[in-house]
Amino acid sequence: MHGARAGPAVPAYACAVTTPARGADGPALPAVIIAPSLLAADFARLGDEATAVEVDADWLHIDVMDYHYVPNLTIGLPVVQSLRKVTSLPFDCHLMIDEPARWAMDYAEAGALNVSFHAEACDDPVALARALRSEGVMAGLAIDRDTAVEPYLELLPHFDTLLIMTIKAGFGGQAFMPELLDKVRTARRHIDSGHLQLRLEVDGGVDENTVIEAALAGADAFVSGTAVYGAADPGAAIRALRRSAHAAVSNRS
Ligand code: DX5
Ligand code: ZN
Repeated sequence: MHGARAGPAVPAYACAVTTPARGADGPALPAVIIAPSLLAADFARLGDEATAVEVDADWLHIDVMDYHYVPNLTIGLPVVQSLRKVTSLPFDCHLMIDEPARWAMDYAEAGALNVSFHAEACDDPVALARALRSEGVMAGLAIDRDTAVEPYLELLPHFDTLLIMTIKAGFGGQAFMPELLDKVRTARRHIDSGHLQLRLEVDGGVDENTVIEAALAGADAFVSGTAVYGAADPGAAIRALRRSAHAAVSNRS
């Protein structure tokens, strides 16, 4: 059970986060979450590609693009509904669409664990976050390459994940942009000083090397498409990412 119907008393995400988030008491290291992105999978075999990472992945990242907010067109609601039937992995739905309020609740109802939408695509991000949470689903705020994070920091108490793009949203296989890690550092400082319970996720160009940079900057959830599905053994690639991320997180002060 990963989705929207657990009931409001126990957040749905409680079943997926196996170690404590960085929180008010802050003794524990954040759990490392590895979320392979289906965007890099073989779209003719999506069900098999999802189950291929079931043992090793924490979340399955699903990129929803509408050909308007970004120039690409990918997976939509019927595909997510069908995938929900073939894997027990928690779904991390990343909406790169205009007017996410029109669609986000449908992804919640389809069984997503987390639904992220882009900050500037939404008129009232807090209202949408509240609506998602009221359904027992995690609410995610996404920050694209050209969007500053500072104006949105005060909204973070309303969210469960903050997704910071380390590329320009729209396509997989792009090179990681280390200069965007300043936003991750800024967000990490804000999360820690405010004692916020929030997963800090990076997305774009994350591989065995760049995952270390992102983890050192403060990320604790890592989306990776090409480095997982482009590998001969996706499971082994996920394990390698996790090892690198854990080592880096352990070295973070
Ligand atoms: C791009 C997507 C990413 C993409 C990452 O807009 O949001 O999730 O799948 O793919 P890689 O890891 O190949 O950069
Ligand atoms: Zn994504």
